[in-house]
Amino acid sequence: MKTLMVATVLVLAGVNGTALAGNAAAGKAKFAVCAGCHGPTGAGNEALKYPKLAGLEAGYVKQQLVAFKSGARDNATMKAMTAGLNETDMDNLAAYIATLK
Ligand code: HEC
Repeated sequence: MKTLMVATVLVLAGVNGTALAGNAAAGKAKFAVCAGCHGPTGAGNEALKYPKLAGLEAGYVKQQLVAFKSGARDNATMKAMTAGLNETDMDNLAAYIATLK
């Protein structure tokens, strides 16, 4: 029974994907450097071509960060920004960014 409950929780977490995988508070601390370009509220900077992050979903953000790091999404600036991030950092950042509206 206990095993079944654990399994159910894992399945429910899976439905929400990365939204539940990250820790938004930890992500907020990591976001300080990102805010330099994307703005403290994730509003972005149109003139400097720094995209708005507010309103993006955690799953999408995580995917982009992984892609920047691997080079699959080719952008030198974001490749440098993600070079030092591990999976947990990216999950946490994605969770935090998803709270920005
Ligand atoms: C030096 C400026 C700069 C900093 C600092 C920076 N970014 Fe970016 N970011 C960019 C630029 C420029 C792009 C657009 C890349 C492209 O055109 O593919 C971008 C794109 C993104 C995207 C994709 C948005 C979309 O709509 O697809 C995400 C997500 C993102 N950044 C997250 C972050 C995170 C998280 C950090 C901190 C770890 C960060 N950025 C730090 C400049 C920056």
